[in-house]
Amino acid sequence: MSSIKNISFSYLEYESPEELNAADQELVIKAKEAAKMAYAPYSRFMVGAAIRLESGRIVHGSNVENAAFPSGICAERTAIAAAVSNYPDDKPVALAIAAMTDEGFTSQPVSPCGNCRQVIAEEEVRSEKQIRIILSGRDRIRVLESIGSLLPLQFSRENLRADRP
Ligand code: THU
Repeated sequence: MSSIKNISFSYLEYESPEELNAADQELVIKAKEAAKMAYAPYSRFMVGAAIRLESGRIVHGSNVENAAFPSGICAERTAIAAAVSNYPDDKPVALAIAAMTDEGFTSQPVSPCGNCRQVIAEEEVRSEKQIRIILSGRDRIRVLESIGSLLPLQFSRENLRADRP
């Protein structure tokens, strides 16, 4: 018998950064600063990601493009790699993303690409902690409590074990 399953999720939406709590506001500022340091000569789309660790430390990353296009890497994965490799025991608690073009910061929030969603999801599994996701745009800011809602039915380490005796 087939049955229809339904997945839904909720998130908070704000109209301006001043409505965010102080810690989230600071993280958005760091993500914007990181976007300005992106190396994106090919797309001219500059993305910054800032991660707050449990200790309060902030680690950032930006997209780094390459003439061999697939060799480029997104801001979110740069930031996660920096956090995990430099502070493996300090768990990420929040991640803010901001993006800009030659016209300035985007009016709409930018969501992480599928590849980055998978990497952020792995980090939630590794650290056994949800990561608050703050997607910042000039006209609105979206806040999600976990990457899980952006990656339902995700592939994870459980799947690797599923078929083993
Ligand atoms: N990019 C990111 O860094 N993060 C995202 O969430 C979306 C896309 C980068 C990849 C590439 O350098 C440029 O933005 C255009 O896709």
